[in-house]
Amino acid sequence: MFKKTHDQKYIFEKLESFHQMDMTYDSGRILGSMCTKPDPIALEAFRMFTETNLGDGGLFKGTSMMEDEVISSLSRLLHSSEACGHIVTGGTEANIMAMCAAKYIFQEDNEDTPEVILPRTAHFSFKKACSMLSLKTVEVPLNDEYKIDTTALEDCITDNTMAIVAIAGSTEFGLVDDIHEISKIAHSNDVYLHVDAALGGFIIPFLNYRNKTRLNFDFKCKGVSSITLDPHKMGLAPVPAGGILFREKKYLDKLAIDAPYLTKNVQTTIVGTRTGATTAATWALINYYGMDGYADIVEGSINLTGYTYNKLRQMKNVNVIVKPELNVIAFNVDDMKVNVLKEELFKKGWRVSNTVKPYAIRLVLMPHVKREHIDEFLSDLEEIIGGS
Ligand SMILES: Cc1ncc(COP(=O)(O)O)c(C=O)c1O
Repeated sequence: MFKKTHDQKYIFEKLESFHQMDMTYDSGRILGSMCTKPDPIALEAFRMFTETNLGDGGLFKGTSMMEDEVISSLSRLLHSSEACGHIVTGGTEANIMAMCAAKYIFQEDNEDTPEVILPRTAHFSFKKACSMLSLKTVEVPLNDEYKIDTTALEDCITDNTMAIVAIAGSTEFGLVDDIHEISKIAHSNDVYLHVDAALGGFIIPFLNYRNKTRLNFDFKCKGVSSITLDPHKMGLAPVPAGGILFREKKYLDKLAIDAPYLTKNVQTTIVGTRTGATTAATWALINYYGMDGYADIVEGSINLTGYTYNKLRQMKNVNVIVKPELNVIAFNVDDMKVNVLKEELFKKGWRVSNTVKPYAIRLVLMPHVKREHIDEFLSDLEEIIGGS
């Protein structure tokens, strides 16, 4: 039972007091999140579409059309003219959808327990997927650079391999597996390859566009079957905006479920009722920023990552775990435990996260993080270490 009713003044004052307890991206203190402050254009677009439901797309034809346009723009971004998919709630749902499609394909001619080959750097959403879908995991070793050891990959493949998972922008270190090589192995063994580019999907294409990198991770690689890329990470869209793209429609169609009482009688997503607001936000961002706009945003964060990396390397007793490829840096400090350092940083108002193996402080340099925040952070770090 609800307790009792209140007037609007009370409601909004109370809501404000809840909100006051939240961290804000504007503070520059959130250094461990892959989300960021949504762009104002995206918020305006979001507000226009709050009553839409892509789960009942026949009622919202314009919104459905907009989703098709977003998917086809993302498909072209990932070097395909015909990939298809959806805007979903995030990387987790996208990864689960990919694993689910791969399982249904596998089960067409194999009744054994499906096996998924993945590195330990894979996001924990794959643990959820494997648990929900009763998949066996096979861990492929990493090389010295914390990437899939491609020389060990082929040995992991068996008759029951359902899929290989590779990562373009690992959660802990922001590193990109050698997807070109992995794709060749997947293709020659006729194994489904899913690329989790939840983070890198909205970074790498723009770095490649500006000739800052030459990282192959998308449908250009023949063996890649599906890709996760999240507008609510580096795409600047409000939460919840994930993206899943399948190379061929027949993969997405594996997820089709009859929805007899709705205006479109088939659904190919996990969730039913699904907001069109984040799709609108993503449509607005893609069409407003284009390649150059996104490349500027991405370059800003990548340059700041380089700056932070160099500064950390100059600091006594600080060990940077690996040279960053995208916008994530992990480091630890001699003579101070990571949890102690994290706690000291917390006391000074910094919200960093940590990696597990090796145990280290993890920074994600998203667009809300500016040079002045990093300078202040480094000065606090220096003070803490100095006092250790
Ligand atoms: C590489 C990668 N994949 C998937 C996810 C899950 O995304 P979400 O939290 O949007 O479900 C994350 C989240 O950080 C991630 O880093």
